[in-house]
Amino acid sequence: MPSPMPTITLPSSDVIPVLGQGTWHLAENRARRPSEIAALRHGLDAGMNLIDTAEMYADGDAEILVGEAIAGRREQVFLVSKVLPHHATRQGTARACEASLRRLGTDRLDLYLLHWRGPVPLAETVEAFMALQAGGLIRNWGVSNFDVGDMAELLSLPGGNEVQTDQVLYNLSRRAPEFELIPVCQELNIPIMAYSPIEQGRILGRPVLRDIAARRDASPVQIALAWVLRQEGVCAIPRASRPDHVDENRAALGVELDRDDLAALDAEFPPPLHPQPLEML
Ligand SMILES: NC(=O)c1ccc[n+]([C@@H]2O[C@H](COP(=O)([O-])OP(=O)(O)OC[C@H]3O[C@@H](n4cnc5c(N)ncnc54)[C@H](OP(=O)(O)O)[C@@H]3O)[C@@H](O)[C@H]2O)c1
Repeated sequence: MPSPMPTITLPSSDVIPVLGQGTWHLAENRARRPSEIAALRHGLDAGMNLIDTAEMYADGDAEILVGEAIAGRREQVFLVSKVLPHHATRQGTARACEASLRRLGTDRLDLYLLHWRGPVPLAETVEAFMALQAGGLIRNWGVSNFDVGDMAELLSLPGGNEVQTDQVLYNLSRRAPEFELIPVCQELNIPIMAYSPIEQGRILGRPVLRDIAARRDASPVQIALAWVLRQEGVCAIPRASRPDHVDENRAALGVELDRDDLAALDAEFPPPLHPQPLEML
């Protein structure tokens, strides 16, 4: 029996797990499909009931795969999808949302995000989100890849303060959000959703991660995830296409890092000492 899943309460009062599941690059290879679906279902069994997808991923096929993985257990899932910036007009957002719902085989999203800022005025996208919410097609909305200035602009718009999260690139090797974005969002009680929390695997060979993992009887992935999750108001959405990877990620919640671990990680992956632009993948 796994330990209870820690949660974060959104401003809307909806509750999300601190550890969810990503889906970028899933559904790109038919041979991997059974394992990918098994992994997502395994994650749901383990309490990682937030699934993050997007109309962009595999050109909609990731949403179809998610639909298959959650069939018969929709009530258990906190389902997140994203609208592409060039679709994010009043009508385009509605069309994109309806298409995502069809592919996912559901009648509502729990959270709908603007994938990144694009050509459409932000006020129009916010209006579109509010209309979808009023129609019951989405429960909550939020943004992704928004830096501090974008958040300030959003919050100045009518309805902008209904934003429920900012999903951003955040991991040991991408610490820009720590300088201002995370503190500002913590102050405003807006959770940060960390994407690519293990840097798509690129940091896992770093000796400092291996050393700490060996000391803690853990793996480098677990150290990287425990580090992202060390702070209040931050959740993470690692993507795993194998059930054993899901187990390993879930067990990261049992790993605690002490001051020496954090100092060693700071030495290898220095925190920002001045404002740095938010990075994107
Ligand atoms: N909003 C945005 O602009 C944006 C951008 C990027 C990502 N995202 C979201 O964030 C999610 C996560 O980010 P990501 O997919 O870029 O990268 P990630 O979660 O940092 O890394 C995924 C990679 O790590 C591997 N992995 C996972 N668990 C592992 C384990 N226990 N041991 C070894 N390897 C493991 C996966 O391999 P296997 O597949 O073999 O398990 C995969 O190759 C995405 O899937 C997507 O939903 C959002």
